[in-house]
Amino acid sequence: MYFQLLAAVAASIGASNAAITRRVACPDGVHTATNAACCALFPIIDDIQTNLFDGGECGEEVHESLRLTFHDAIGVSMSKGAAGQVFSRGGADGSIITFNDTEVNFHANNGIDEIVGEQQPFIAAHNITAGDFIQLAGAVGITNCPGAPQLEFMFGRPTAKAPAPDLTVPEPFDTVDSILARFADAGGFTPAEVVALLASHTIAAADKVDPTIPGTPFDSTPSIFDTQFFVETQLRGTSFPGTGGNQGEVESPLRGEMRLQSDSELARDSRTACSWQANVNQQAHMAASFKAAMAKLAVLGQDLSTMVDCSEVIPVPKPFTGQAMLPAGLTENDIEQACASTPFPALQSAPGPVTSVAPVSVY
Ligand code: HEM
Repeated sequence: MYFQLLAAVAASIGASNAAITRRVACPDGVHTATNAACCALFPIIDDIQTNLFDGGECGEEVHESLRLTFHDAIGVSMSKGAAGQVFSRGGADGSIITFNDTEVNFHANNGIDEIVGEQQPFIAAHNITAGDFIQLAGAVGITNCPGAPQLEFMFGRPTAKAPAPDLTVPEPFDTVDSILARFADAGGFTPAEVVALLASHTIAAADKVDPTIPGTPFDSTPSIFDTQFFVETQLRGTSFPGTGGNQGEVESPLRGEMRLQSDSELARDSRTACSWQANVNQQAHMAASFKAAMAKLAVLGQDLSTMVDCSEVIPVPKPFTGQAMLPAGLTENDIEQACASTPFPALQSAPGPVTSVAPVSVY
């Protein structure tokens, strides 16, 4: 009797576990998924890792693909539409590719034509909308950058019906007032969420701000999703990496490094400085807050009730276990501390003489 009872309990535990973990086998005979719709994504991921991201690098195509997730998604407004109404769709809808003739010509999208052109053949080769592909490529691409979070991926954006209007993408010469207002209007982002999203600039470089020096990074580790960006933007700016006098650029602390005026001001504004500083050497906090804010960004303007959660297809990112450092030759005296309530965290200086930052390869 006792054994029969035990067997019944074991069977019922087994059944409920099976209900929780039951997965379908994908047609490729390799993968399984909790929702069969997600199976279609595995061959796309293999293709882009091999052929778009050069076999799993955290290089220019990944950086540009992440930038593209933002420039597509932010094209939405809660307060006004093209004809004065709230957009019914828009946002993360792929319009930047579907209507690239219009959107790539917007001033804030300068240089985005390159990754649009590189992504188009992959969209044509697979059965996926541009909106889904853009967010998928961004989420998959950053897993090649050590320290990045495993982003959510919701699947099911319909094809865009219209281009986004101009002036939805913030510019590096915009004021903090205007940047915070734009993010609030696009999706109700708080100042802390704006800072969270700017962790993206830890794997970033500029080609167009100073066109004489393409591939100039925003921090000294542009292929690692670490917190160095938040350290280095807080250092006193001392020189321009190239010609200087470019719109949206201010002096940076290191040779070879670009500092955007917007990043500089967000790091020093009383509404954002403490969130900015809170990322310094706090890898887990930075990654988690970026992930949460990206989850909002990636579905702006979309109807979640018609989408399938395929987050499980996103690969596990490469880990990062290092510490944030003050660049060699610089000390805490070079920090322009801006958060009124908390001191800047103590950091070690990297050993050796002052170095310059190498450009990101643009080939
Ligand atoms: C205040 C808001 C923002 C401003 C003003 C801004 C501005 C810029 C500018 C001017 C560039 C350099 C473009 C070039 O010259 O090639 C850039 C690069 C980049 N941005 Fe932003 N950005 C903002 C927010 C974001 C957000 C929210 C994301 C993603 C979630 C993002 C991701 C990137 C990435 C990854 C790059 C590097 C692209 C590359 O290396 O090719 N940015 N951004």
